[in-house]
Amino acid sequence: MKDQIWLIGFMGTGKSRIARPLAVALGWERVDIDELIEQEAGEGVPDIFRHGGEGAFRVLETKVIERVAQTPNVVVATGGGSVLSEINREAMKARGFIVCLDARVDTIAARVMASDAHVSERPLLQGDDPLARITSLKAEREALYRQADFIIQTDDMTPDQVTHQILLAFREQPAVPGNAT
Ligand code: S3P
Repeated sequence: MKDQIWLIGFMGTGKSRIARPLAVALGWERVDIDELIEQEAGEGVPDIFRHGGEGAFRVLETKVIERVAQTPNVVVATGGGSVLSEINREAMKARGFIVCLDARVDTIAARVMASDAHVSERPLLQGDDPLARITSLKAEREALYRQADFIIQTDDMTPDQVTHQILLAFREQPAVPGNAT
């Protein structure tokens, strides 16, 4: 039985929002990769991008993911770009059940735009046309998100419903003989 759940998916699909109730339901620890990156760097995500570019952010992201991947009984909210690196994907898969939270572009835009602070915290959505940026970036990453063990369309669901569906999917996993931890 896998002893981690990793939440992947595009920005604004609810990864951080869902990690909390999911962790409570399982009696596991909640871990947020962006929060750990900020602790590691001693500055916020926008400042990491400003000072070291996306490359510096991705190096820290991989370092933190590799560390968390050693920890049992965790629900992990990742950043939307964590799937870009094969090292990250392999680390997550080793003992993790991978869940992709999906949403339509308009839902993502509405969630991300709901607060100005929210947009400014997401360096990759800066520019004149965040909607176009969401559309193209999401399309580029779609094949990687689709590699998840379970994909859930969140547009018309409450956080409680999403949490419940993930728990059902996780508990339905077949036990792999000889691979129990
Ligand atoms: C990113 C998503 C962000 C954060 C960083 C890069 C991405 O996390 O890690 O701004 O590449 O999609 P959220 O998905 O939590 O917004």
